[in-house]
Amino acid sequence: MEKIVIDGGRPLHGSIRCSGAKNAALPILIATLLAPGEHRLTNVPELADTSSTLSLLGRIGCPSLVQGSVRLDTTRIAFCEAPYDVVRKMRASVLVLGPMLARCGEARVSLPGGCAIGTRPIDQHLKGLEALGCRFELEGGYINGIAHDLKGAEIHLDMPTVTGTENILMAAVLARGTTRIHNAAREPEVVDLVHFLQNLGAKITGEGTSTLTIEGVPRLWPASRPYSIVPDRIEAGTYLCAAAIAGGDVEVTGCAPQLLEASLHKLREAGCHVEVGETSVRLRRDTPLRSFSARTEPYPGLATDMQAQLMAVATVAAGTSRIEETIFENRFMHAAELTRMGARIQHVGRLATVEGVEALKGAQVMASDLRASAALVLAGLAAQGLTEVLRIYHLDRGYEDLVGKLRGVGARIVRAPDTTDTDAMIEALDAADRADVSPEEEMAAGAPVSS
Ligand code: EPU
Repeated sequence: MEKIVIDGGRPLHGSIRCSGAKNAALPILIATLLAPGEHRLTNVPELADTSSTLSLLGRIGCPSLVQGSVRLDTTRIAFCEAPYDVVRKMRASVLVLGPMLARCGEARVSLPGGCAIGTRPIDQHLKGLEALGCRFELEGGYINGIAHDLKGAEIHLDMPTVTGTENILMAAVLARGTTRIHNAAREPEVVDLVHFLQNLGAKITGEGTSTLTIEGVPRLWPASRPYSIVPDRIEAGTYLCAAAIAGGDVEVTGCAPQLLEASLHKLREAGCHVEVGETSVRLRRDTPLRSFSARTEPYPGLATDMQAQLMAVATVAAGTSRIEETIFENRFMHAAELTRMGARIQHVGRLATVEGVEALKGAQVMASDLRASAALVLAGLAAQGLTEVLRIYHLDRGYEDLVGKLRGVGARIVRAPDTTDTDAMIEALDAADRADVSPEEEMAAGAPVSS
């Protein structure tokens, strides 16, 4: 197993290229099941979750080839099942339910169970699919679903669930008649899925609003041109938070700034200078950070997936910040780890109060989920001394080349085996620093050039 080692305290300078959005790529990869044939997708992020999704699709009978872009062949579906060992690793696998029921009339999907950020039931997914005519029974931890002759329906979601909206949407595109999903999720990743489905011939309107209207069609076809996944607004936001907490001047390129508004607003409130280009955001921070208040909400509100990273920023912002989590009931697991680095955080229920400290101190920390891990890396960038972030498989699930991208803007950060001792960690950080300096730069700095 590996850990990430960070020697904090260096401001960041330079540019970071944003990857495709994990939470758009996963449902879109799965949505290819709806249109038998060959699909091509570009801007798919290289992540553990992408590999897990492709391997799930492979087990179902749909092979893929990753060579820059992703090619997927969904001509045949051999097994309508998402087994426990896959769903356990990646909850998004539950998204095969809607497409399998629509295409094959049956599906067997392991029930995901709770996770580090909450109980996360899927009752709304099932309620919506039942309204379309699916029937479910629970057996041995699996949901067995059957569907004969799906019919459009009026569906009212109790909350605007992201994957719930996506699951129902993917079944409704092949149902007979009209489906309306009320209180649908408006997240950009849902909009991206709608655009992909429209390219396959689906008839959907209302994307980006809370009512989606779907006119079912008898079949869908693979698009003739490759589909490019929307940039990852959470990844972009995470790197902007990195510049905010470490200080410096960083431009995130290849992103969609209009999707980042709520996070940018918070970073400005914290005292950062933010300049928005057409496909880039530049953040400069050369004065001390100020406290701010933040409340997570469904899109276009502040993303819950940015809450942990903003909390890391708040730990070193002068004054008292208040952070409220309204989406998940248990998403403050990073608070205790940040406290181990010297942060002053109290939380009661869904409200956290963060009293800014002068400086964080490096420590060994352990993350419980993807965004919590990102928050700990950010804290490490600002902390004095060495921070070791353990259990980095969470980060590999959702950030493409996080270490390389942060090193590219000057962070002292490396991956190392879990067992590496302090001296070896410092050696590895020094070696990485040397590797990042070109011979020309070394010469300019007067250092001897090694052959
Ligand atoms: N909920 C229910 N019943 C349901 C569905 C959801 O009670 O049937 C509750 C959840 O327990 C939660 C709230 O509704 O309290 C919202 O959950 P939602 O269903 O919207 O979350 P999700 O679809 O499971 C996606 C992202 C998450 C992101 C949330 C919220 C994917 C693959 N995952 O999860 O991403 O936090 O929406 O925006 O799209 C991440 O990337 O780190 C991540 C966790």
